[in-house]
Amino acid sequence: MSDTSPDLPTDQVFDDLLHEDRSFPPPPDFAAKANISDASLYEAANEDYLQYWTDQAAELDWFEPWEETLEWTPPHCKWFVGGKLNITHNCLDRHLETKPDATAILFEGEPGDQRKLTYRELHAETCKFANALKSLGITKGDRIAIYMPMVPEAAIAMLACARIGAIHSVVFGGFSADSLSDRINDSECKAVITADGGWRRGKFLPLKETTDTAVQATSSIEHVIVYQRDPSFDCPMTSGRDHWYHELVANASEDCPPEEMDAEDVLFILYTSGTTGKPKGIVHTTGGYSVTTYSTTKYIFDLKDDDIYWCTADVGWITGHSYIVYGPLQNGAQILMYEGAPNHPENDRFWEIVEKYKVTVFYTAPTAIRAFMKWGDDLPAKHDLSSLRLLGSVGEPINPEAWMWYNQHIGQNKCPIVDTWWQTETGAIMISGLPGHTTMKPGFAGPALPGIKATILDEDANEVTSGSGLLAITQPWPSMLRTLWGDDQRYIDTYFSKWNPSIYFPGDGAKRDDEGNFMVLGRVDDVLNVSGHRIGTMEVESALVDHPAVAESAVVGRAHDLKGQAIVAFVTVKGNTEMSDDLNNELRVHVADKIGAIARPDQIVFTADLPKTRSGKIMRRLLRDIAEGRAIGDTTTLADASVVASLQAQHADSEG
Ligand code: PRX
Repeated sequence: MSDTSPDLPTDQVFDDLLHEDRSFPPPPDFAAKANISDASLYEAANEDYLQYWTDQAAELDWFEPWEETLEWTPPHCKWFVGGKLNITHNCLDRHLETKPDATAILFEGEPGDQRKLTYRELHAETCKFANALKSLGITKGDRIAIYMPMVPEAAIAMLACARIGAIHSVVFGGFSADSLSDRINDSECKAVITADGGWRRGKFLPLKETTDTAVQATSSIEHVIVYQRDPSFDCPMTSGRDHWYHELVANASEDCPPEEMDAEDVLFILYTSGTTGKPKGIVHTTGGYSVTTYSTTKYIFDLKDDDIYWCTADVGWITGHSYIVYGPLQNGAQILMYEGAPNHPENDRFWEIVEKYKVTVFYTAPTAIRAFMKWGDDLPAKHDLSSLRLLGSVGEPINPEAWMWYNQHIGQNKCPIVDTWWQTETGAIMISGLPGHTTMKPGFAGPALPGIKATILDEDANEVTSGSGLLAITQPWPSMLRTLWGDDQRYIDTYFSKWNPSIYFPGDGAKRDDEGNFMVLGRVDDVLNVSGHRIGTMEVESALVDHPAVAESAVVGRAHDLKGQAIVAFVTVKGNTEMSDDLNNELRVHVADKIGAIARPDQIVFTADLPKTRSGKIMRRLLRDIAEGRAIGDTTTLADASVVASLQAQHADSEG
């Protein structure tokens, strides 16, 4: 393989499994009450997948019906063409008729404060804030950035935008001012909704301060709306530009009819990392996203009226969009939202919350599960977790050891586990078992969901029947991204140019067992997955070369027990700059300042040279081998072979 072609991630961890028969059929008690406990959905979808999606869509309320289910001019699609709806009607108004006083959101703040919002209250709060946005001149199609802690108002802000047809662009509260301003500028946001701050691990993180810095580097922002999380915190406001959230809604009307949105009107933009330094603005539209998040939530999380559903993601990521806000609310679920860290004040905070609220469905990430394993079996054992009936995993491959631990110590061997594979781009879960039907196998995410067609291909689009290959989605689905904001060519190049314009390339390696269960192995491009978060190697490299001392850098991932992958940066410095420990620390801080703490390199290796091919390409595979301490592969294309020995020595030193 040449150094520039994608290489498949190592799948050694999972190899044992293929030879072992470890399978977990749905527990009979669970299956007896499950929403789906047979293969009927798969059969219906296989027979006619457009009819399948038509039937799913028909379960939602539409202001006007669609004329055509799918218009597919690869790689562009339109779903439910001509249909009119508003996702907030299906999230809120619809439930007012049947269960206005049912709980919509239960909130636990990190300091221990609690709130509860019924569907009636959530509807009223959304309408008030939507009217407040209107009073500032915000209208359909305007882009609005949301940079919030995990409080109910983050969900209300998203819903209020959707109510009036404004396009939200949520930016994770852990991102830096630069990351926020880049995203604001890319889609020319007119307003930003933020908070004075939010609680994380006992500290009040000053989000408004970061917003102020970000807004200085933008020209489109007219309004900054500030939710007050802690009245005792001094939060300077810029008169004319800044508005307190509570003042705006104080006199706002609770009546705000939903804007009639076309099925293909943009609902939101969410930025995610790619293989260049510039994040991609993933565009999702209203109809298809509503339908797919609604139906996947219903079937995969098996929701019932009395469930207490808790997804531990942040609303700043796609998981928060689809499976805290839009999917569960369309299903009328009781949703738990927790503001803070899993280890504050103690490492058993999550289990304390499960016990306190009697959580029944729990959805988290493998990186968290591995941390819980490390913190000890006695912590979950201290709490009554008997309310749990279903567990989920998302964000990265779950290693079988973590799967088994999750099953035993959290699920107490009675909860099915759904390992859900999907992406920001797919909008909704694509590969997962159905908990009342599928026999789960640790390490395997499961089969493609009904209505989704996935396979494994090689570079030449041949189907791979044994061993690993590239995951491919071979037919459009309603919640697929429609384009990249302002860059349709990049959309075509990134996702639909690998084989042919009808096949979506997700960028993951995978293999499959005889029953059609997919084992997803990880990224095959220059994107890292650190604690379930996507980080582009180029983003980190750009942040490093932005530092005046850095001449060149190359960033790779190496396997990490807790995070999945850790970031290792190889750096050459300018002129006679001293390659000191101080500079090493300064560079790590610099990257965190430029991007956000999630991108801080775990290790920086100073080197006099980077290994390059004779044509000048950095040999990343070789750097990955060095970072992971593996035997070095083929170096015949290397311009200067002596670089390798010195790099290995430097790497060993810096690990020291
Ligand atoms: O590599 C896959 C991994 O996360 C990537 C998508 O990242 P993002 O867009 O940030 O969305 C994360 C939450 C949906 C994928 O390309 N990934 C996600 N879920 C799984 C996974 N890898 C293996 N198994 C999963 N269940």
